[in-house]
Amino acid sequence: MGLARSFQNLLLALALCSATASGEASRRFWVENDTFWKDGAPFQIVGGDIHYFRIVPEYWKDRLLRAKALGLNTIQTYVPWNLHEPEPQSWEFKGFTDIESYIRLAHELDMLVMLRVGPYICGEWDLGGFPPWLLTIEPAIELRSSDSTYLSLVDRWWGVLLPRVAPLLYSNGGPIIMVQIENEFGSFGDDKNYLHYLVQVARRYLGNEIMLYTTDGGAIGNLKNGTIPQDDVFAAVDFDTGSNPWPIFQLQKKYNLPGKSAPLCSEFYTGWLTHWGESIATTDASSTAKALKRILCRNGSAVLYMAHGGTNFGFYNGANTGENESDYKGDITSYDYDAPIKEYGDVNNSKYKALRRVIHECTGTPLHPLPPDIERANYGLVEVQKVVSLFEIIDNISDPLKVAISEQPLSMELMGQMFGFLLYTSEYQEKHSYSILSIPKVHDRAQVFVSCSRGVVRNPRYVGIIERWFNKALQIPNLSCSSNVSLYILVENMGRVNYGPYIFDQKGILSSVEIDGVILRHWKMYPILLTALSNLSEFQPLMQMTGDQASKVSIYGDSENMLHDVSFYLNEGISDEPSFYEGHFHIDSKSAKKDTFISFRGWNKGVAIVNNFNIGRFWPARGPQCALYVPAPILKPGDNVVVIFELHSPNPELTIEFVKDPDFTCGK
Ligand SMILES: *[C@@H]1O[C@H](CO)[C@@H](O)[C@H](O)[C@H]1NC(C)=O
Ligand SMILES: *[C@@H]1O[C@H](CO)[C@@H](O)[C@H](O)[C@H]1NC(C)=O
Ligand SMILES: *[C@@H]1O[C@H](CO)[C@@H](O)[C@H](O)[C@H]1NC(C)=O
Ligand SMILES: *[C@@H]1O[C@H](CO)[C@@H](O)[C@H](O)[C@H]1NC(C)=O
Ligand SMILES: *[C@@H]1O[C@H](CO)[C@@H](O)[C@H](O)[C@H]1NC(C)=O
Ligand SMILES: *[C@@H]1O[C@H](CO)[C@@H](O)[C@H](O)[C@H]1NC(C)=O
Ligand SMILES: *[C@@H]1O[C@H](CO)[C@@H](O)[C@H](O)[C@H]1NC(C)=O
Ligand SMILES: *[C@@H]1O[C@H](CO)[C@@H](O)[C@H](O)[C@H]1NC(C)=O
Ligand SMILES: *[C@@H]1O[C@H](CO)[C@@H](O)[C@H](O)[C@H]1NC(C)=O
Repeated sequence: MGLARSFQNLLLALALCSATASGEASRRFWVENDTFWKDGAPFQIVGGDIHYFRIVPEYWKDRLLRAKALGLNTIQTYVPWNLHEPEPQSWEFKGFTDIESYIRLAHELDMLVMLRVGPYICGEWDLGGFPPWLLTIEPAIELRSSDSTYLSLVDRWWGVLLPRVAPLLYSNGGPIIMVQIENEFGSFGDDKNYLHYLVQVARRYLGNEIMLYTTDGGAIGNLKNGTIPQDDVFAAVDFDTGSNPWPIFQLQKKYNLPGKSAPLCSEFYTGWLTHWGESIATTDASSTAKALKRILCRNGSAVLYMAHGGTNFGFYNGANTGENESDYKGDITSYDYDAPIKEYGDVNNSKYKALRRVIHECTGTPLHPLPPDIERANYGLVEVQKVVSLFEIIDNISDPLKVAISEQPLSMELMGQMFGFLLYTSEYQEKHSYSILSIPKVHDRAQVFVSCSRGVVRNPRYVGIIERWFNKALQIPNLSCSSNVSLYILVENMGRVNYGPYIFDQKGILSSVEIDGVILRHWKMYPILLTALSNLSEFQPLMQMTGDQASKVSIYGDSENMLHDVSFYLNEGISDEPSFYEGHFHIDSKSAKKDTFISFRGWNKGVAIVNNFNIGRFWPARGPQCALYVPAPILKPGDNVVVIFELHSPNPELTIEFVKDPDFTCGK
């Protein structure tokens, strides 16, 4: 490892020396006569998006090499502000966020880089890459606009980011040939002053040599609103495989200065995203290759979106809305995107082969040998060994300094709980044979429980779910409590909207909560700290459910979670209780650890953590994704631990299964 690394450094040093020897002045990338030029020769960009933040760093090199073997000469990546500034002025540039190492790696592998620094990136990434603390500022800021508070925060962020990447610009000896401003701004607004401001800040740190660019959909309205040729910012277009590229490249010319419109599709869609509840998106390999050929064989430039999609690990998946903001759909954990390089790195597929052939045919790049697929392991069936209810360990799993009391429920952002789950509790007095609970605005999914006991207790009674996209009042039966009823509402943030007019997407309970039309006051809120899970084994193991008991717990569809569930649970005395399950599996220290998937068939909804690494959300009841990708670098020889936070009921067998292959056939 060390040797290999220093060998690469040597190569890099040689590459830089030869560049210097032939004169820095020759390191120049520009556009002239509607052609890209690099060091005096015409240049065709054959690029692909690969996002460093969606791949474990140990695999960056592997994925870049696979992209290179596809024939790509350029890697495009977004830069997600939210990962780099998770809290105001606390900067992250290590591990997953070590962007400089990622860019240098591309350089070592002799690839160029197109850097999309945002500040907004879309990218099916939580809040389009904005840090959620932006949503707590008073008065509320207007994202993606000339709002002065917003601009000053962008300025501060770019003041940290851009000086770090400036030495990596092409003219400074690095691989970055172009830097993108904003992202598809023309499909959002027309605030050109905002774009002008971004250009000024970018030029302040990056100088005048670097080619700045915008990307917009290939239609007049988008290009008109999103481009700024007067600032000498190159306008690129994006479109899907069904579009006829050359008329769009003609249109692109109108939004570039004369002679400065090299045809560039900076997002050529090799596949598409998938939301929970949809079938997995696929795009035909040969029609994708044909469409790419129409660009490349006529000297057009294209960037595959995605070349390799990767994974939305943790809680970072984005979401979309339809016409209104309750029409919400979260993105699945996998960002495979049906890209030529699969989520788990495989390339032995018809799309990779077809695109590789087209790139070779059109550009004359040698046909590299197909990289070998990566071996995957099936670690088999693993029994879950311990069960602890969330309610039972609420004091251990919530940060006492962050537990808050307030008259009205607070948003997750105001509670400082930017991701995951928050438990809201209050109480009410029973007055009728049943009570009606309504939460007019909840983002995104609330599980409701009640109990006659005071405080948070184990085994409260499950009432039902209120979902952002299916918001119906719940009927709570009279429990005949001797005093007030305790009400518990566990809310999941399922990922912030990353595109469109509703991106100001705060999470948690965002309205008053009413019981029988009366506003409930006095709330106590517990932010759930999943990082505290490392101590799970210290908790008392609880009695495990027998298979027989567990099978009585309904595995329900989401639309049928209403009243009939109540009588079911009250009669059976079984609650649908959010709980933690722990399983162990052993990897022989003599055999290499390998990539694998965990199948959650038979489970309902939750998140899974392997060796303290959050591998993402599972929701097989909704589908289509049934199995989560587990890259080998998070595994270790010897004992490995999986902790599952299941919101409803586990697989009745109390097992998870490690499998070799991805599986997108659930929920149908
Ligand atoms: C662009 O075209 C003009 C006119 O034909 C020519 O003088 C110039 O050298 C060309 N630029 C490059 C970089 O070839
Ligand atoms: C472009 O801006 C104009 C003026 O604000 C607006 O009416 C139009 O809808 C915008 N176009 C698009 C495609 O967003
Ligand atoms: C593409 O560019 C090359 C080199 O500049 C040129 O020889 C060739 O004629 C061009 N092909 C087309 C289809 O424009
Ligand atoms: C929001 O849009 C969805 C889908 O079009 C629709 O079913 C729902 O009734 C709408 N909700 C509101 C509050 O307008
Ligand atoms: C690709 O897959 C085919 C069929 O599954 C297999 O026969 C072949 O060996 C694989 N090639 C590589 C390079 O992995
Ligand atoms: C959990 O919290 C309780 C009450 O604060 C405390 O007594 C107990 O030691 C904690 N357990 C662990 C494992 O931290
Ligand atoms: C019961 O709840 C009501 C609010 O619904 C509150 O006003 C009252 O103080 C509570 N009673 C007790 C004994 O806590
Ligand atoms: C509801 O419960 C309360 C408290 O247990 C009881 O006094 C009341 O009679 C019940 N109301 C009805 C309509 O059942
Ligand atoms: C977990 O345990 C460690 C050591 O036993 C302790 O220092 C730490 O505070 C615990 N974390 C939480 C969140 O309870």
